Amino acid sequence: MKFFIDTANLDNIKEAQDLGVLDGVTTNPSLMAKEGITGEANVLAHYKAICDIVDDNVSAEVIATDYDGIIKEGEALAALNPKIVVKVPMIKDGIKAIKYFSGKGIRTNCTLIFSPGQALLAAKAGASYVSPFLGRLDDISTDGLQLIEDIRLIFDNYGYPTEILAASIRGPLHIVACAKLGADVITAPLAAITALLKHPLTDSGLATFLADHAKASGK
Ligand code: E4P
Repeated sequence: MKFFIDTANLDNIKEAQDLGVLDGVTTNPSLMAKEGITGEANVLAHYKAICDIVDDNVSAEVIATDYDGIIKEGEALAALNPKIVVKVPMIKDGIKAIKYFSGKGIRTNCTLIFSPGQALLAAKAGASYVSPFLGRLDDISTDGLQLIEDIRLIFDNYGYPTEILAASIRGPLHIVACAKLGADVITAPLAAITALLKHPLTDSGLATFLADHAKASGK
């Protein structure tokens, strides 16, 4: 399973990259705004800075919602660096644009997926990734993990190469559940990824090992 970090914060991206388990980054306009990155030139420079840190798979989201605008923005983003994956919203013109980008060999991530039918449509259009938003479904008392299971079944039925990128992850248990369901990728905040490290029995077990070693060594 690939691990992406869901942030535009360069320090968090560096920390995840240093851990040695990072396969990519997802951003969105809200995450860019949270870092205070505004204006086209600054946004493009920020994507370049992210590409300099990670090995591949930097999702950069278009702002346009009309076909021509999505194509123009997407091509400009893709031209920044071969690591860029153009992130396109699940709307009619977005699907048409994904079809166009797929024909041009430009990788895409279809975002804001909330139903199996949306994922199917994006896969048919040739999306490289679909991003079902688990946490936001859970927030409205709908089973986000069921959506991952349904998309996995559909993609496997037809052998679609589109990868399931489980997004809107809220904690470590979401990551483990996605792994059990066969999601190809998770994107999560740094805290959810590093929470996978933690177990109280690991901490107490290590403390005992170190204490026993010190006693036996006469320290
Ligand atoms: C995915 O690519 C999105 O950036 C993200 O996962 C949304 O998560 P949120 O629901 O925590 O905003």
